[in-house]
Amino acid sequence: TTVEWEAESYDMGGHDTYMHKEVFEQAEAVDRVLRGRIDDRFATVHLGGLNLDAREARSVRRIKILGCGTSYHAGQIGAGLIEELARIPADAEPASEFRYRNPVVDPDTLYVAVSQSGETYDVLAAVQELKRKGARVLGVVNVVGSAIAREADGGTYVHAGPEVCVVSTKCFTNTVVAFALLALHLGRVRDLSVTDGKRIIEGLRKLPAQIEEILKTEPEIKQLAKAYADARSMLFIGRVRGYPVAREASLKLKEVSYIHAEAYPASELKHGPLALIDPSMPTVAIVPDDDLLEKNRAALEEIKARSGRILAVAHQEQEKADHTIVVPKNEDELDPILMGIPLQLFAYHTALALGRDIDKPRNLAKSVTVE
Ligand code: G6P
Repeated sequence: TTVEWEAESYDMGGHDTYMHKEVFEQAEAVDRVLRGRIDDRFATVHLGGLNLDAREARSVRRIKILGCGTSYHAGQIGAGLIEELARIPADAEPASEFRYRNPVVDPDTLYVAVSQSGETYDVLAAVQELKRKGARVLGVVNVVGSAIAREADGGTYVHAGPEVCVVSTKCFTNTVVAFALLALHLGRVRDLSVTDGKRIIEGLRKLPAQIEEILKTEPEIKQLAKAYADARSMLFIGRVRGYPVAREASLKLKEVSYIHAEAYPASELKHGPLALIDPSMPTVAIVPDDDLLEKNRAALEEIKARSGRILAVAHQEQEKADHTIVVPKNEDELDPILMGIPLQLFAYHTALALGRDIDKPRNLAKSVTVE
């Protein structure tokens, strides 16, 4: 892979920004993270570098995922995938918070450090502290041979290729796919059935073509972005699988467009954010066709009743929404991988309409190697 990276050209390949280029490289990147890892015979995947045998994988009682920024959000989706597919209690936490609260380090917990660069200081320091206390730490990292990759006991590379834009897009998607692979692997040495293993593998295989399909809707998303670019603030909502998608989409929008955005679980609207809703405060809603569809629709109704504008990302047109971006359906567990992609383009085109410095947003750095 190192060779492949060096051979890859860093030019913009006809795109105006690295962000645009990297968003459009996602189908290819996902194909790369899947390549050579799927084992159809046993309905599982092989992740060579985990250094965790089946017996050890079965003895894991909890998984704690640590990362910063977009990698933390990828870890939140990853935790959901691990709970769904492997039935291991899992959660994600910002690495910096974790390391300053003198965490209880438990020998039956598997720790997973997530980082695109593999150099983020807060993540590296958390890994070092964990190792001092005898914990086992895996890395889910993009840059081969980086500090976190070297420090971890094992792990997996996400093979997104070089990411130049400060805000992370293709690496986010590949990291979530890498977590799906880890979750499937852990599930198959524990309770996940062959049937479910096969179902997830089929879903994974569909991802690259479905990403291409989503990227074709760019002209429509560009129009929507222009229509919403006058907002001073936007609310992003989702539930369970959709909530970390909403969080990442909100982060993307604020990073590149400088529009204030806040993510909330749709179920919490009535406990506060509904007070903000009026015609000047649009809501972006993640509405997958899963068991929470009706609940999500009820949330849209609450917003509409207060004259809020709604942009939905869904698997079918949403009647209560002013606009719906329809994305292709995958397996319920894998839907979060796809639903954030149109919102990367939404953030991009909003920033473009506002004349922002997309590849280098003010005050931000690609990797933060100091405290
Ligand atoms: C910086 C970047 C973010 C990134 C975060 C974590 O804040 O601006 O885009 O998500 O660091 O970076 P890492 O390399 O650890 O994933």
